[in-house]
Amino acid sequence: MSLEGQVAVITGASAGIGAATARLLHDAGMKLLISARREDRLKQMADELPGATWLAGDITDPALPQQLIDKALAEFGQVDVVFNNAGVILRTLIEEADIDAICRMVRINTESAFRLIYTALQHFKQVGKGHLVNTSSILGTKVRPTVGAYAGTKYAIEALSESLRLELAKTDIAVSCVEPGLVLTELHDDWDEHPKDFMGIESPLMPEDVARCVKFVLEQPMHVRIPRLLVTPGEMEL
Ligand SMILES: NC(=O)c1ccc[n+]([C@@H]2O[C@H](COP(=O)([O-])OP(=O)(O)OC[C@H]3O[C@@H](n4cnc5c(N)ncnc54)[C@H](OP(=O)(O)O)[C@@H]3O)[C@@H](O)[C@H]2O)c1
Repeated sequence: MSLEGQVAVITGASAGIGAATARLLHDAGMKLLISARREDRLKQMADELPGATWLAGDITDPALPQQLIDKALAEFGQVDVVFNNAGVILRTLIEEADIDAICRMVRINTESAFRLIYTALQHFKQVGKGHLVNTSSILGTKVRPTVGAYAGTKYAIEALSESLRLELAKTDIAVSCVEPGLVLTELHDDWDEHPKDFMGIESPLMPEDVARCVKFVLEQPMHVRIPRLLVTPGEMEL
């Protein structure tokens, strides 16, 4: 199915998977509203992607999801796709756990994602069609020591998405989760050691690899649904 002329709202678009997906969907002819906190990056991306517009904001602001839908409708007259992608990761030993930082991650990865999910789906139900794609993780399907809290945020996305998929069966509204393994982005920049080193992965996924998965999910005709797409580096053993 051609994506030409469709409109997408993309969160977490200032870096990594969100930025790569914005570029690829723009190349496919989609009209984009990109969002994240870093305004300078959004401006620069919008300059690179003619026709794209941006709205800077913190995803934990409860007003942002509706503002995103409203701005996309005002600019483009329709919203066909919401790519719910903004996220952070924390890795911690029990003894060192900063509970407030964990709860902030839960607010970003789960509470704010849930708000955007419901806001997007309310719009899609009004117009009778649309596609919501969530960036989950391989850690939305299995756990490892020290990243259980992060995995919990992604398991929550998986559970809600599966329930919504069932609720929306027999409609033209699709819900998908993309579940990447290790991707080389800024996500782990503040870690003491990069996971590719302690996991022994020389060739992690690149953001563009995940972007192609998102595009593939979106290109399917409406009778073909991809509720979950797991994508890993070839070397990933965990
Ligand atoms: N990298 C991996 O190995 C991997 C694997 C599986 C899943 N994921 C998931 O992929 C998604 C994208 O991550 P990435 O790997 O592309 O990381 P990234 O390069 O760090 O990008 C994260 C994006 O989220 C935005 N963001 C973070 N906190 C935000 C907030 N409070 N409000 C608004 N935007 C916020 C960031 O923008 P600003 O800082 O400008 O706000 C940035 O655009 C996340 O959901 C992550 O959990 C990543």
